[in-house]
Amino acid sequence: MSLQLPAALARRLEHKPYIQNTTGLSGAGVLMFDDCVLKTAPDDQTAAREARMMAWLEGKLPVPRVLEYCEQDGTAFLLMSRLEGEMSCEDYYMERPQLLCKLLAEGLKALWQVDIRDCPCRFSLDDRLLLAEDNVRHGRCEVHRVEPDTYGPGGFRDPEDLLRWLKDHRPPVDEVLSHGDFCLPNVFFRGEQVSGYLDLGFCAAADRYQDIALCYRSLLHNADGTYGPVYPDVRPDDLFRALGMPPDWEKVRYYRLLDELF
Ligand SMILES: Nc1ncnc2c1ncn2[C@@H]1O[C@H](COP(=O)(O)OP(=O)(O)O)[C@@H](O)[C@H]1O
Ligand SMILES: [Mg+2]
Repeated sequence: MSLQLPAALARRLEHKPYIQNTTGLSGAGVLMFDDCVLKTAPDDQTAAREARMMAWLEGKLPVPRVLEYCEQDGTAFLLMSRLEGEMSCEDYYMERPQLLCKLLAEGLKALWQVDIRDCPCRFSLDDRLLLAEDNVRHGRCEVHRVEPDTYGPGGFRDPEDLLRWLKDHRPPVDEVLSHGDFCLPNVFFRGEQVSGYLDLGFCAAADRYQDIALCYRSLLHNADGTYGPVYPDVRPDDLFRALGMPPDWEKVRYYRLLDELF
């Protein structure tokens, strides 16, 4: 193992075979062992929050169990149990759009049923906008790997312009437990059940549409060829049918745009 592991982890993981998982786009290192997973990331607030939320959610929702969390030399190490099942964007589910939307809707609703009164993390819209502002100020906003109509003719001039618009058009907030990055690779299914949620660094009390908007976008792009195969039978609008609620397109747009600054 080329990684310099903290002593507690080295003892546990030495000589155990693993494979590297390159699914995620965050730049985190993910090593898959047969019964556990090691995620390494810069030691910023996100990694610590992920471990805290994972521990808080134990027994409330299917999430990996935190086996060890530590920080060393600017790197955060999260060793967690390995979830059963597979990513909701695997062929099996993408080829069964009705089941896919039904389970994604169940996954969202299960989050909304968690009592957030003692939730250790809260991301109000103001908090998110402050983080977005920090990203803009430090030039951390992607301007190429974004939706094609975000910037340029008919869109925003640049991230500063988008941030200004987001601050001026805050929609009313409807607070629930939000996964924070509800995209298909972060939600696991097993058979006809949601078997787990992953990647919880932004999980917090936040607006319901934070997750709906990202789920909708992820359905769209996992089906339209952005990440590989095209699945013509997947219709992202069916998510709302499965949720049994009419879409608020203004909010879908708002939260998709907000995510462009992360
Ligand atoms: N505990 C786990 N159990 C099973 N698979 C996992 C686990 N943690 C990560 N993975 C796999 O690794 C991928 C990337 O991990 P993730 O935490 O989502 O990183 P990123 O922040 O880079 O998206 C996931 O989509 C999943 O396929
Ligand atoms: Mg992920």
